[in-house]
Amino acid sequence: MFYVTTAIDYTNGSPHIGHAYEKVMADVIARYHRLRGDEVFFLTGVDQHGQKVQQTAEKEGISPEEFVKRTTQKFSDLWEKLGVEYDGWAETVDERHKHCVRTILTELKDQGQLYKKAHAGSYSVRQEQFLQDRDRDEAGNFGPEWGEVVEIEEENWYFKLSDHTDWLKSFIENQPDLIIPAFRKSELLNALEKNSGIDLCISRPKERLRWGIEFPFDENYVTYVWFDALINYISFAGYKSLADSGLPDFKTIWSDRPVHIIGKDILIPAHGIYWLCMLRAMGFSESQMPRLLVHGWWNIRGEKMAKSTGNVVDPSALVDQFGVEAVRYYLVRDIVTGKDSDFDMDRLVMLFNTELANEVGNLCNRALNMSQRFTGGILHHGGPLTEDDLALQKSLANSLSEYRTAMDDFDLSKGLEALSRHIVHCNQYAERMKPWTLNKDPDQKDRVATILYHLAESLAHATVLISPILPAAAEKLAAQLNFPVLTTLKLADLHWGLLPDGHEIGLPLPIFPRIVSQDA
Ligand code: MSP
Repeated sequence: MFYVTTAIDYTNGSPHIGHAYEKVMADVIARYHRLRGDEVFFLTGVDQHGQKVQQTAEKEGISPEEFVKRTTQKFSDLWEKLGVEYDGWAETVDERHKHCVRTILTELKDQGQLYKKAHAGSYSVRQEQFLQDRDRDEAGNFGPEWGEVVEIEEENWYFKLSDHTDWLKSFIENQPDLIIPAFRKSELLNALEKNSGIDLCISRPKERLRWGIEFPFDENYVTYVWFDALINYISFAGYKSLADSGLPDFKTIWSDRPVHIIGKDILIPAHGIYWLCMLRAMGFSESQMPRLLVHGWWNIRGEKMAKSTGNVVDPSALVDQFGVEAVRYYLVRDIVTGKDSDFDMDRLVMLFNTELANEVGNLCNRALNMSQRFTGGILHHGGPLTEDDLALQKSLANSLSEYRTAMDDFDLSKGLEALSRHIVHCNQYAERMKPWTLNKDPDQKDRVATILYHLAESLAHATVLISPILPAAAEKLAAQLNFPVLTTLKLADLHWGLLPDGHEIGLPLPIFPRIVSQDA
């Protein structure tokens, strides 16, 4: 089973383009794996507990329950609007999740992995954690990333993280595909060095925070939001679930190493340290450890997106303005997996207009329109093949193999570049072959049919390859090609000759209408 998850989004605000990127990226990866023929389970959802939610709800004068219900809806509505299709939906207020968290807490306590102790120290309200000296900046202060820092003393429950960090260090060092891209590995190892010997505080006294999962063996405490949230990856996959929960069978879902898609800000310490150690403490073996696919951030004019400065892009408004295809395409096309990128509306328009409206649109128009006009909508494999025809077939084979390698490596923009190159080759082939001129010569009918077949067949392949990224557009393309096998066809089935001799194609309808810039 290819099990892929995203981070679960905080429900203390509205989704922005960064959240949308991660979900679209996961959706593309899930769809690509289905196209590869893999069994796929795609889980996403929302992180609903914690101090931030409690505070924002208080400010709005409503209960946290009501508040998260409202904000959760904004996220799920957006995923629907963006065509993000998941198999599992995680909400941390779900009783089934709470049951799993409580079961894990009880088991870890029984195994001696949890203990209670008093601690006095500096506490970051924003990050909801005690700070250590290592968290101070060079001037000895706690930087702005920690927000308000207060001095408190309290008794709490701790998880023996330090029992697992030596193991983690060698595991990270010896596992080539634990962290993707690999350049993040050294950051993680450095952080681990700083963390050694420190245990993780996993409870919050109720007098300070009520909005969380109550400890099963100590009713005065709720669970630390990260300990709760990370468990979503297993709770909603059926781990320790009750028989009638309606959740999937855990062994089936977690049969291979899952892929957790996360942003670079939550690799350290949450996923790269806490989560891997938590799993080990629960008895997960090395071969069951997830892979962490760490993506970069979308910034705006080089600046971090922040609600406080109004520096955010609303994905829903973007879809209203440019359409879902333009937004999905841009979000995976203009960022290299693992790196940051600058969100740029002009590039969104430019990439849509050049690569989709012009190039795919042109190929579609040529293949379908000319076939309708010159061969009555019927495709013929035609006469003997020329070097140009063979070169086009070769270019398709090359693009397909580059696409596969890139997509297997989660390098989505590279996959799209490979596809784009093929479309450009097709249009150049059409320009060189000039079927519209040849058609005037009755002796060239066979040659015209061969050329048109090459264009339509190439378009059929492109339709399959683009389907994980633009599923709705791919369906429309397939309908025009009268190529109904899109949903059942697998990547391995792609061979020259998908469209049989005598195949009747449909009429071209515009699928990617050019975006006319407002100031044009
Ligand atoms: N709730 C935690 C995750 C818990 S996972 C067990 C959280 N939520 S978040 O809403 O702040 O972020 C959700 C995801 O969105 C994270 O992976 C984060 O990296 C990603 N992004 C948030 N801002 C982003 C950008 N500007 N660009 C790209 N992704 C960004 O962290």
